[in-house]
Parts: sequence; C-alpha cells; structure tokens
Amino acid sequence: MAEQRGTVGGPVLTEWFAKADLHTLDVYESLGGYSALRKVVTTMTAQQVIDEVKISGLRGRGGADFPTAMKWSFVPKDHPGPKYIVVNADESEPGSAKDRYLMENSPHALIEGAAIASFAIGGHQAWIYIRGEYDLPYEMLRDAIAEAHAKGYLGDHPFGADHALDVRLYRGHGAYICGEETALLESLEGKRAQPRSRPPFPAVKGAWGLPTAVNNVETLSTVPWIIRHGGAEYASRGTEKAKGTRMVTVSGDVKKPGNYEIEIGVTYRDIIEGLAGGMLPGRKLKVFWPGGSSAKVLPASMLDTSTDLDGLKALGTMGGSGGIIVMDDSHCVVKAAARLLRFYAFESCGKCTPCRVGGNWAVRTYDRIMANEGSQLELGILERVSDGLQNGRCLCGLGDAAGWVIESTMRHFHDEYEDHCLRHTCNVGRALAHA
Ligand SMILES: Cc1cc2nc3c(=O)[nH]c(=O)nc-3n(C[C@H](O)[C@H](O)[C@H](O)COP(=O)(O)O)c2cc1C
Repeated sequence: MAEQRGTVGGPVLTEWFAKADLHTLDVYESLGGYSALRKVVTTMTAQQVIDEVKISGLRGRGGADFPTAMKWSFVPKDHPGPKYIVVNADESEPGSAKDRYLMENSPHALIEGAAIASFAIGGHQAWIYIRGEYDLPYEMLRDAIAEAHAKGYLGDHPFGADHALDVRLYRGHGAYICGEETALLESLEGKRAQPRSRPPFPAVKGAWGLPTAVNNVETLSTVPWIIRHGGAEYASRGTEKAKGTRMVTVSGDVKKPGNYEIEIGVTYRDIIEGLAGGMLPGRKLKVFWPGGSSAKVLPASMLDTSTDLDGLKALGTMGGSGGIIVMDDSHCVVKAAARLLRFYAFESCGKCTPCRVGGNWAVRTYDRIMANEGSQLELGILERVSDGLQNGRCLCGLGDAAGWVIESTMRHFHDEYEDHCLRHTCNVGRALAHA
C-alpha cells in the first residue's frame, strides 16, 4: 500500500475540524475566525484582497478550475449599482459531498469568505444558493448568519468599518442543472433553471442583470485562511501550477469512503489506497472517476495519476468537483455508463437540442444494449451521440459531461462494450441479469 499522504504542509480547510462546536461563533472566533474579515474591512483595500488571493493561486473548486482572483477582477469596479457574490452551494454532482461537509462543520468559514469576496468586488451582498435537500447545512448557515449579525460582524458597519456587508440564504429547487452558474442565477431570480447564453458572462451581467461573481463553497471557505496566513503560504502547498489543498469525496468500493483534504499533487493511489483504506477485501480496482461523475473515467492502470491540473489534463480528464468514485472488478462499466446516462438525460433542462435529444438517444441505445439487442450499429450510435454532446455544442457543461461518460468508458473499456454488443455477454456476468 502507498504511503498515506493527505496534506503534507498541514490542512487548510479542515484545520480546526477536530474542535467541538466549531459551528458556533464563539468557538470559531476563539480559534481566530473572523480575524480575516476584520483585517480586510479595517486595513485593506479591495484590490489588496484580490492581489493576496492572486498570489495564493486559488482556483475555483466547483469544477471549472477558474482562477478566483481573476474572476473577481472581471467584476467592473466602476459599476454604480449593486454587485453580488453568489455562493454555489447546490452540490448535486454524483460522487461529491464535500461542500456539505464544509458547511456542516464550519459554516462561519463560508460566511466569512463570502463577506470578504463581497468586499473584494466592491459589493455589499452575498447570496448563498443552497441545494434544497441540504436541510442540516441550511439550518446551520441560517443560525450562523444570525450569530454574525447579532455580533455586528455582518450589517451596516462590520467591525466598525464603513462598508455594509450582508449574507443571505436561498434554498435551491432540487435539480442538477441548478448548479450550473447561469441556470443557478435564473433560479435565484425565481425563474426556471436553464443556462443562459454567454456572453455576457455573470461578472458583467449576472443576478438581476447586475455584475456577479459565482463561487463554490469550498473556494470561498478557503479565503479566510489565505488572508490570515498570506497568499504565499497557501501557494507553498500544492504543485508548480496547481496551488494549495482541496477537498475530495471518496465513494464506492473502498474501505473508508468519506471526505478528505489533500494537498494538490498527491496521486489517486495516495488517496484510494492510502486515505480511503484501499479496496474491499478480495476485490481489485477496475475504474475510477477522478472528479465527479462528469470527469472522464480512468482505468486502474492510471492510479498513479497526479491530482494536479497538468497530470489530469494530459489524460483528457479533470479534478472537477473532487468527487472520486471508485468501482471494483465486480461491476460492469457498460451498465454503470447506462445508469449515468439516464441521470444526465433526466437532468437535462431541455433548453438546447444536442443535450435534450442526444441524452435520450444515448439512453435508448444503452437500453437496447442492456436488453441484449446491441450490435455494431449501437456502438456506432454511441460514438456519434457522444461526439454530438461535446465540444461546445451544448449551452452548458451538462451535455459535455454526458458525452464524456460515453467516450471515456468506450475508450478504456471497449472490450466490455464489444462483449455486450457483439457477443451478448458481460464479463462481470451479473450485469445483464440486473439491467
Ligand atoms: C451541470 C452543471 C452543474 C454544476 N454544479 C455545480 C455545483 O453544484 N456546485 C458548484 O460549485 N459548481 C457547479 N458547477 C460549476 C459552476 O457552473 C461554476 O463553474 C462554479 O460554481 C464556479 O465557482 P468556482 O469558480 O468557485 O469553481 C456546475 C456546472 C455544470 C455545467
């Protein structure tokens, strides 16, 4: 088994997680919580905050990996009216549960990060759009926001400063598409969640047509630590191009599934065999999704892939939302892909044709394959549908993700597809019986 590596330079996000009652303002503050917001509003300019986050190299942890400081700097400084920070707490990606873990353990870190981000863009209001099913995190954030208001850390004059800051909660509407940032903005405005065409990008025209930066929960929860310790200290963790630490959720056929903070650059072997305890007794790793169900799969032979950007990009996949889904050799990859395509087709909002039609084509094709009616024709259809879903043909990344599932499982497990379509067998045996 590989040496157990998590965060060599020490944890960032989970630094205080061992403390009892960290969710309360008293405990959070006793450890140094809200000192970053105090420092920001009383001693720093908005540009200094952006510069510090730029030095840290922090990139968005919601999936797209976009540099956080750059996103904030795109919000026009001279805009006369309101500007918003919108926190993406929708977390519906299959395999990802790290935002819930962060919000349940340290809701004040997210509130503090959202308030700092509001200050950095010259705004006063942050909205947390939280997944409708997340009852406990919702209640904890609601109570934490009330505590911060009662103490005067949010409100008209936080820490006596002349820069009003407020954080509000909005409960989501239970669809995967609500996590896509422009669909989220539609939903926040009370409309049906469907992605917008871009440009204009949210930084210029976001919530209610006003400049808006949409950031993931983990991204913003990292910001207070960066302000407390300095961007350079954060950047000393990670790799040359991918700085810092990040959360991963490991699920599936491992001994210790759960949420872990890792230093970026450790390998998937470090995570799966080390932190997550390895495979279940008697089983071998077959395939893993390195960054949620939307990331292209990697076979067991690629377990030594690094979690940094370059390592993943070189293989055509991504760290995405940090959800690592592990499947052992008792599972059929074709069946898993069929299930996932059903998810993507069901969750397609239907606004753009490639996603709406392509997803359903794929489902019908997989249905024939799993009913032992596959042939060379079905293999060809899947290849064409997968291509039609990708490369910017859809309005948002949901279509690409569906295409990536087909493409990557066909690329790495073509023999299993051939077994199903050309020989009407399954090397796992049980898959056809349960389809
Ligand atoms: C279908 C779909 C679902 C998404 N779901 C989420 C989500 O639940 N949470 C999230 O932070 N980002 C999600 N994203 C990514 C967001 O669109 C956006 O890139 C992210 O919130 C930006 O924050 P960041 O820069 O901090 O990563 C999703 C994207 C797509 C295409």
